[in-house]
Amino acid sequence: MVVPGLEVPVDYIPQQVDVLNVIDEAPGVKILALTAPQGKMTFVAGQFVQISVFGYGEAPFTICSSPSQSDSFDICVSAVGRVSNALHRLKPGDRVGVRGPLGHGFPLEQVLGRDLFFVAGGTGMACLRSVIADCRENLSDYGRLIIANGVKTPAKRLFAADLQLWHDDVRTELHETVDTPDASWQGRVGVVPDIIKDVDFDPHNTVAFVVGPPVVFRFAAQNFLNKGVEEKDIYFSLERRFQCGVGKCGHCQVNDLYVCQNGPVFSYSELKSRSEAVEATLPDN
Ligand SMILES: Cc1cc2nc3c(=O)[nH]c(=O)nc-3n(C[C@H](O)[C@H](O)[C@H](O)COP(=O)(O)OP(=O)(O)OC[C@H]3O[C@@H](n4cnc5c(N)ncnc54)[C@H](O)[C@@H]3O)c2cc1C
Ligand code: FES
Repeated sequence: MVVPGLEVPVDYIPQQVDVLNVIDEAPGVKILALTAPQGKMTFVAGQFVQISVFGYGEAPFTICSSPSQSDSFDICVSAVGRVSNALHRLKPGDRVGVRGPLGHGFPLEQVLGRDLFFVAGGTGMACLRSVIADCRENLSDYGRLIIANGVKTPAKRLFAADLQLWHDDVRTELHETVDTPDASWQGRVGVVPDIIKDVDFDPHNTVAFVVGPPVVFRFAAQNFLNKGVEEKDIYFSLERRFQCGVGKCGHCQVNDLYVCQNGPVFSYSELKSRSEAVEATLPDN
């Protein structure tokens, strides 16, 4: 798409939007609600936006709200560097730049009628929250919705209100674990990919959506494959260092793929022949 009179694709030009709300979600993690560029945000769960903070720079963030919420959208930001710390300092009424939505999200239209198994490690739930919300709003389109959420400590659990909703609702099956418990934690202790081993599910009718650090991808892939889930039915959302976000600079490249443009969501089948993805993320088998 090109701006009339300007031979510049609109995805190259940040649109200014307002910060509507800022919520302290967990230590070092905030959720920002932003107005949609030009009043409407149409996106597929799993797509990302490039957010710019004036004077600080630009970084990619996954949209973490439901696609049905179109007049505003949420991002969940871990304070790790220049842009994310600047985002943490913003207040309602401040302005940021937005490019997107960009990339390819989860292929929900290809998995209608199937059971879905979501695996989130750490802040990976920021990405899966959007796709889970979409599925819950269209429950009759899918079979079982199984959710595995793993964090380092109980204090790092994100979206506690959503987790409670999924726990209480018989239509979603929530399994949680922490690496290191504290006195408040009565639940499971251990790493999140191990939940896959312990849940009884039909591997031939199940599609897996995995978001987390590379170690979670690696062991989740192995455990799903061991259970008999097909390679084409295991999806990951990859994080790489992005600059342009639109397939021009090559910063995000994994072999012949641009993660920003061809992904960030990929199936195991797409990645397994790419040595760089296998090295960083997948079990080499
Ligand atoms: C598709 C996608 C979706 C994402 N979604 C989210 C999200 O929903 N929420 C979220 O919090 N984050 C998300 N991220 C990650 C986020 O974009 C990065 O953490 C980003 O770098 C933050 O920008 P920053 O300026 O705050 O940090 P930076 O200043 O870029 O620093 C971030 C970290 O990377 C290190 N670093 C800096 N430069 C380099 C380098 N050249 N090589 C290696 N390491 C380096 C820093 O030491 C620091 O630890 C996403 C990334 C991608 C690609
Ligand atoms: S970030 Fe520039 S090509 Fe992907």
